[in-house]
Amino acid sequence: MSEVIAHVSPETLPAEWYWSEEAWQVERREIWAKHWVLIGREAQFAAPGDYISTVLAGYPIFAIKGKDGTVRAFHNACRHRASPLVQECEGHVDRLSCPYHRWLYDFEGRLKGAPTMEIDKDEYGLFPVHCAVWRGLVFVSHDPAMALESWLEDIAKAALRYPLEELQLAREFTIEADVNWKTYGDNYAEAWHIPTIHPGLNASIDMASYKIATVGHTLQSHMADARDGGKTDGFWVWRLPGLFFNMYNWGMNVAQLEPTGPRSMRLTYRYFTKDLDPAKQEERDALIDWAYMVAKEDIDICKAVQKNLEAGIYDRGRLSSVHENGVIQFQELVASAHR
Ligand code: FES
Ligand SMILES: [Fe+2]
Repeated sequence: MSEVIAHVSPETLPAEWYWSEEAWQVERREIWAKHWVLIGREAQFAAPGDYISTVLAGYPIFAIKGKDGTVRAFHNACRHRASPLVQECEGHVDRLSCPYHRWLYDFEGRLKGAPTMEIDKDEYGLFPVHCAVWRGLVFVSHDPAMALESWLEDIAKAALRYPLEELQLAREFTIEADVNWKTYGDNYAEAWHIPTIHPGLNASIDMASYKIATVGHTLQSHMADARDGGKTDGFWVWRLPGLFFNMYNWGMNVAQLEPTGPRSMRLTYRYFTKDLDPAKQEERDALIDWAYMVAKEDIDICKAVQKNLEAGIYDRGRLSSVHENGVIQFQELVASAHR
């Protein structure tokens, strides 16, 4: 009998997976290293030497535009004694020269200068990372299980009504929080909390119309109509593990979740709108501020949940097949990485 109940309301993942170093090592290797992560926009790479740096699955990396116009990505680690090569999140270098002892690399990652050393420079190029561009967005991966186009196929179809190339970047910002990436994922994967945690959003969308559809371990889509007079409708699509296309009647937010350690995450929001008409600036700002407030409400509940996951009294709860089908899908993906 208990087996039947377990099938109907599955158990959540163990709390320890939300903070332990062991779980983080499994997930960075088995999940994050195998998928693509959005790190920036092609427009940020205007000239050769323009770069973006970030941490991908626990490894510091950077992407840089070459003299041939191609953006390439590398581990941000000098092959001499492992100093980071670039320092800023975003910047420009005329020469890729290590700030520690001045080993010099070209933008294709080849070692060009190693003063006083008798070494074969061909053996000490930078460690490459896969890098690909899709509709003006730059993605990286350590070990992609599939090519970027295939990886994006389902989400690209879902986002057809939003031709990204024609949208303009209205605002970009990052939220860092002491929250395990799965605490955020669990929260994103259900709408059950909207009436309790997001009174403003609840007043805008028609919760009776809210639906969550799942596809294998790859895609999750949320749909809701606007209430009469509500600020927004919503069509939110999540390419697991961490890419979100949040589409509204007024524009689109492309968001990327990145774990930065066992107990910390980063969320980058990029809001695009159909035009940047200055006359509509105020209206645009108000909508984005409003969406930011909803995001903050999520982060606040995630921080509180994270504290309890780390405290040691709670281990595993149960999930509702009615309200948490998205959480069940997400947790199955995570559990499969731990098997
Ligand atoms: S660590 Fe880069 S030159 Fe020494
Ligand atoms: Fe939420």
